[in-house]
Amino acid sequence: MEIKIIEATLLDLPEIMKLEVASFANDAWPEETFHSELEAKHTYYILALQGEELVGYAGLSKLAGSDQADIQTIAVREDKRGLGIGRKLMDALTLEARNRGAKEIFLEVRADNSIAQKLYKVFGFKQIGTRKKYYQPDGVDAFIMKTDVIRKVNSEPVVLGIETSCDETGVGIVRGNQLLANVISSSMDKHAIFGGVVPEIAARAHLEALTPVLNEALAKAQLTLDDIDAIAVTNGPGLAGALMVGVGAAKALSVATGKPIYAVNHLVGHVGADILDRGELYTPTIALLVSGGHTSLLLVRDLLNDVVLLGETIDDAAGEAFDKVSRVLGLSYPGGPEIDRVAKDANPAAIRFPRGLTLPKDMDKHRYDFSFSGLKTAVARHVELAESKGEEFSIGDVAASFREAVVDVLVKKAINACKDFDVPRLLLGGGVVANARLREVAKEQCEANGIELRIPPFSLCTDNGAMIAAIGAQLIMAGRAPSTLDFSAESTLPVTSVQS
Ligand code: KG4
Ligand code: ZN
Repeated sequence: MEIKIIEATLLDLPEIMKLEVASFANDAWPEETFHSELEAKHTYYILALQGEELVGYAGLSKLAGSDQADIQTIAVREDKRGLGIGRKLMDALTLEARNRGAKEIFLEVRADNSIAQKLYKVFGFKQIGTRKKYYQPDGVDAFIMKTDVIRKVNSEPVVLGIETSCDETGVGIVRGNQLLANVISSSMDKHAIFGGVVPEIAARAHLEALTPVLNEALAKAQLTLDDIDAIAVTNGPGLAGALMVGVGAAKALSVATGKPIYAVNHLVGHVGADILDRGELYTPTIALLVSGGHTSLLLVRDLLNDVVLLGETIDDAAGEAFDKVSRVLGLSYPGGPEIDRVAKDANPAAIRFPRGLTLPKDMDKHRYDFSFSGLKTAVARHVELAESKGEEFSIGDVAASFREAVVDVLVKKAINACKDFDVPRLLLGGGVVANARLREVAKEQCEANGIELRIPPFSLCTDNGAMIAAIGAQLIMAGRAPSTLDFSAESTLPVTSVQS
């Protein structure tokens, strides 16, 4: 028969006392104590009823103005144990503690009551101290336990993620750590004639692509919007106009469906992509994120709580350098694949191009920062000089030498970070990860240094909604409250802000 939880009144005192005496033979509370507990304003006592029968009770105390609540007591009738009644009572107490503004809940439990301790651990309680011989007359110690007040955790939330920070319109759907759908529409072709992403065009393309991409993702996952537990969206960093399309759409969806919304950091999303590949994220890890829009080196000790930006590009992004050099060489956009193609069998040592921010003086101030604009200029100058002299030059050798310079710096700085912080793992993300030479050198260098290299599948490396959904799911599983609707698109959102 169903268990009902109701608030206790003084009229219930006789029944409560019967269960109290039966439950705590030696140290039952006297009736007067219970009487004043039930009467007090700062307490909250509840009953578990099966039909009309009292099968359990529990009580909480929370003084006004205090951040702390205390669980005063909890009892379940002996013949009704193991039916989840304790959990129901705990659920109700923690909900009430939260509603009364408590940030932490404390309790004391007999050291010899391992069943109760197990129940409390399910609710996140940890032992923080002991009171010697607290329970008399038995002389049994009390364990003091504490938990932070967090939301009820959905262990496998279905989350829809929306990504529009650059030129990919991405909608992904995950269930917990599992990928259900990842649909991407890129406006890359529309930017090709300009040789780089044009923000206005990207924003407009997002507007056109979003609904079809959303519908396709739902269809792929064989879900409807009703099945979604929450919506996650990239709110930065990225192109302001592009971000705004996704943020606006996600907020509208949230309002229309009543589903909670989580505003997520794009760069942290790239790190989270690996969860969908491996089922979990191994930390600590160094993450090297290289795309047309960013070049960032991160130290990730904890995905939701401890992400540090070690360094980033001070001018062009790595992908942008590929795109610009490709143009200099008369090749098409995007430049990365083109450079890879012509560099394939060419000589990477033909020309020694500069390695930005690697001189000893730079390594003091910019140990983990990157600069590609000098390299791009050096390539352009090399080509101009050869052309002005009417000399033949090998496009392949220039491309291969340029690529070598970029890869050299990227991998060296990433490996330095692994060594400096004693982190045995390197995760790559972003569109430049497609680069054949980058993958090769990263693999060699990681092997040589005993570092585990992680490269998620390419569809999860480039910008996508699934990685954003993955972070949303992590936030929910960690008990984080949704974002409030007043967050905005922030083109320079720092990586330390995982959720806005
Ligand atoms: O992550 P992504 O798709 O998102 C944006 O930044 O928009 O990255 C695109 C960038 C472009 O700059 C492109 O040239 C670069 O990634 N890229 C490559 C390769 N494939 C794509 N760079 C080097 N080698 C490649 N094979
Ligand atoms: Zn990105």
